[in-house]
Amino acid sequence: MKPARLAPSILAADFARLGEEVARVEPYVDLLHIDVMDGHFVPNLSLGIPVIASLRKASSLYFDCHLMTTNPDAYLPELAAAGADLAVVHIEVLPDPTQAAERARRAGLDFGLVLSPPTPFEAVAPFVELCDLLLVMSVHPGFGGQEFMPEVLPKVHEARQWVDSHGLTVDIEIDGGITPETARPAREAGADVLVAGSAIFRAPDPVEAVHRLRAAVEEVG
Ligand code: DX5
Ligand code: ZN
Repeated sequence: MKPARLAPSILAADFARLGEEVARVEPYVDLLHIDVMDGHFVPNLSLGIPVIASLRKASSLYFDCHLMTTNPDAYLPELAAAGADLAVVHIEVLPDPTQAAERARRAGLDFGLVLSPPTPFEAVAPFVELCDLLLVMSVHPGFGGQEFMPEVLPKVHEARQWVDSHGLTVDIEIDGGITPETARPAREAGADVLVAGSAIFRAPDPVEAVHRLRAAVEEVG
């Protein structure tokens, strides 16, 4: 397995001080997780293209954009122009994501698929080769600060086995309720990229929180 990577989710950051919040953790993390919500696919709103464009000027991290929207493929060129690096779309809204993957690549974006907790791995299996990353949600999408759902761990393991047995290099990411305690079993199940919102930005010292998460996953290897 590749070394574990940490992706703070800015959903839990102070949006009035977003640039500073990101700059503080930037030297210690590997990518930045950006949750885009449309109030339709999920019952919540978050942020969109202009915020990503502003952040791009403030950070050189790889921008992992998790699109919780019903029409994610409609905004791929705008997302790329704003400075996103990776577009991750829910398989539940695009049961055949072939065209969206092509559109993302044409726009210059990396492409990923995400599974909500009830969605089985089989839904993405035919499309894994189109992906740079597979995201397994460990909470229901829409809100930060929820409790980790350990029942998704077998799905992470299944994804890991599929990727390895097909000789692919697709990253496996996990998102939701990640803390030093839950990061460990997630890494053991095969996650390469661990997203953490509350555990980093709601901690009294976000940098120390990043170090604690890293120590937890590095114990696993
Ligand atoms: C939830 C988002 C997550 C969220 C994670 O829909 O996809 O990225 O920010 O937040 P925590 O780490 O607080 O569970
Ligand atoms: Zn997310």
